[in-house]
Amino acid sequence: QKYNVAVLGATGLVGRQIIETLAERKFPVDQLFPLASSRSAGEEIEFNGETIEVLDVEQFDFANAHIGLFSAGGSVSEKYAPIAAEAGCVVIDNTSQFRYDYDVPLVVPEVNAASLADFRNRNIIANPNCSTIQMLVALKPIYDAYGIERINVSTYQAVSGAGKEAVDELAKQTANLMNGRPLDNKVFTKQMAFNVIPQIDAFEDNGYTREEMKMVWETQKILGDETVMVNPTAVRVPVFFGHAEAIHLETRMPVDVEHVKQLLQDAPGVELIEDEHDYPTPVSDASGNDSVFVGRVRQDISHPHGLNMWVVSDNTRKGAATNSVQIAEELIAHYF
Ligand code: A2P
Repeated sequence: QKYNVAVLGATGLVGRQIIETLAERKFPVDQLFPLASSRSAGEEIEFNGETIEVLDVEQFDFANAHIGLFSAGGSVSEKYAPIAAEAGCVVIDNTSQFRYDYDVPLVVPEVNAASLADFRNRNIIANPNCSTIQMLVALKPIYDAYGIERINVSTYQAVSGAGKEAVDELAKQTANLMNGRPLDNKVFTKQMAFNVIPQIDAFEDNGYTREEMKMVWETQKILGDETVMVNPTAVRVPVFFGHAEAIHLETRMPVDVEHVKQLLQDAPGVELIEDEHDYPTPVSDASGNDSVFVGRVRQDISHPHGLNMWVVSDNTRKGAATNSVQIAEELIAHYF
């Protein structure tokens, strides 16, 4: 059995990665429909050694696709996801457009695959925020064994999370700085090269950014537990691919670090760096890899139920494309 798959946002950073990941994981694709705006309709995309033309989403009949992987921005999903869903195409949406709708499953296969069962409500499944995905893949075994009362997390997020233009802006600023040329910034609020920016997405009324609140809302929804408290600070750093997170958590029961390491070693999707003097980084480990890397696991010296860890993953892969394709794999394995 093979499936027709539409990828909306096929010329973007995540869209391209989705197409690559479909090929890498040998997803049973019959026909692939790369979709974008009229701007890039007619461009060509490589898939499994074939050259396929990009189509204008405006002209596309979603009745031709069994599955739609959407990654072209919230407003584009807002418009086209209901149209696709209505036509019988199951949408796996990478944007935040539908994540907080109670009847739309928000899925990390390693954490809450069972919630996928509700996908027929709307024919839409939401893919969580990149920072939330990697955090929960790492925390799920700890949550199951000890319970989690509270999570303090600071993120160190790559520019690719903001799309192709953001990657270009960091590259250009870096080159300009090296050559004594003037800088300008369009995507980021301040100079991104050789800098760190503690703002991702817009500010909310409570002083947190939307990116930070996504981690709060999505963690509670995915774990199905509104008692887990999350206190995030989300920071953009001049890294191209791979988000890092310093996570400090308080478990409900006293925690044994050696046991936690054992749990992480057996956890699906996790790669534990065991050497206490080594650690994963975006460039050396995560970039180009599908795993969630965990290191620096240690007891919090300031709290008996406290645990510290460092979690790194490729935001365009497990944080976006890989997770979406895994959802599609679950879908065809159990529901189609
Ligand atoms: P296009 O090339 O036609 O602009 P990124 O996240 O890397 O910036 O990529 C965004 C993706 O979303 C691109 O593939 C882009 O296609 C697509 N996109 C943006 N706006 C629209 C739109 N209005 N309709 C369809 N696709 C869109």
